[in-house]
Amino acid sequence: MKIGQAKSLRGTINLPGDKSISHRAAMLAAIAVGETWIENFSASADCHTTIKCLEDLGVSFMQDGSNVFVKGVGKTGFRKPEKPLDCGNSGTTMRLLSGILAGQDFESTLIGDESLGKRPMHRIVDPLEKMGARIQTNEGKPPLIISGTHSLRTIEYSQLVASAQIKSCILLAGLNADGETAVVEPIQTRDHTERMLEWFGVGVGIEKLETGTRIAVSGDAALAARDLTIPSDISSAAFFMVAAACLKGSDVTLPNVGVNPTRKAIFDVLCGFGAGVDILEPSDVCNEPVGTIHVRGGIAPADKAVTLDGPMIANLIDELPIIAVLGTQLDCGIEIRDAGELRVKESDRIAAIVENLRRMGADVTEFDDGFKVERSRLKGAVVESFGDHRIVMAFAVAGLLAEGETEIIGAECADISFPGFFDTLSSVVD
Ligand code: S3P
Repeated sequence: MKIGQAKSLRGTINLPGDKSISHRAAMLAAIAVGETWIENFSASADCHTTIKCLEDLGVSFMQDGSNVFVKGVGKTGFRKPEKPLDCGNSGTTMRLLSGILAGQDFESTLIGDESLGKRPMHRIVDPLEKMGARIQTNEGKPPLIISGTHSLRTIEYSQLVASAQIKSCILLAGLNADGETAVVEPIQTRDHTERMLEWFGVGVGIEKLETGTRIAVSGDAALAARDLTIPSDISSAAFFMVAAACLKGSDVTLPNVGVNPTRKAIFDVLCGFGAGVDILEPSDVCNEPVGTIHVRGGIAPADKAVTLDGPMIANLIDELPIIAVLGTQLDCGIEIRDAGELRVKESDRIAAIVENLRRMGADVTEFDDGFKVERSRLKGAVVESFGDHRIVMAFAVAGLLAEGETEIIGAECADISFPGFFDTLSSVVD
């Protein structure tokens, strides 16, 4: 894929449904009693992977464009799969589904692609084994062979890694445990699972403790099917928000985007740099905050360096590749710390960001847990996808800001979260 320098972005962009929320919608509708109609389901390859795995477990889905109809089978109504469940590139599919499978009375095997095969799973295997599931791994990595049981034990689990995937995995397992299961998170992570469980009629106990937030579900809970509409994905919006903010003269409108406080840190970061971003017509759709994001080009001059670190990183984690690109346009650059988790995403995102930015002539320093980017004049170059959708989209934006032409090798993996990304981008580039 080749990208040239752009003057501005102008227009209205209707983005696909949120990937994180769509995974949960498919899984919770599958374990609900009754039929659920889901509107604006994510077009991502990852969410189709979730549907495929659930179909292999005996759940029936019907798709009509971006709408999906699901016939729920209840919490323990799955059929033993005849073959390994292929989670593809999707960590969310593997980790959340493992929580559900731990509570089924059969053995299942979860496999993934080369990237997923390298990602840490002991973070979910340890708590699920404490609850009574037996799980074999390849030294803590996939494939996972899960021997589940209808009689899981409850646990009270303190999160060691700030991860919504771990929290969600344990809460989903907790729906089949013999009492109350709780996760205490010292650092708040995205709360879509909690919100959607409530939408399906499950009581979620949320309590603020000195050690963090305690989130509890009961093994008695039953989910009642209920139609829902998924907001557009703020993590996809982020690429257009940053590009428009960096290109003077831009004017971009992104309707119906999810602006959940645990996901909208990219909006707050851009506001902090004096970008002309607003959330218009805020509303609540199916228990998720939604709004229209409007961006006008331009970032205010800054006189001191900015470091993003600490608890805010969990809510910005998927946006750090595009924030690295943003850093090249800021007077004093930007430093990211406490983001070691980036090394175990779809690629080692710290290494990928540093390598590609250097190829484009940027001044960047690598740390174990982050990076520092100085203000830099970007030059078109050949960059790599590293098989990672967010690296592709971040460097597509870098290409818009760079002099000359940028070529992204392996750009097709943008489909993992956003099929049609490049068509959408060209429709608004001036
Ligand atoms: C996700 C949570 C995050 C995020 C991932 C999706 C989710 O991962 O990076 O893209 O849907 O729960 P962690 O929970 O592992 O940080």
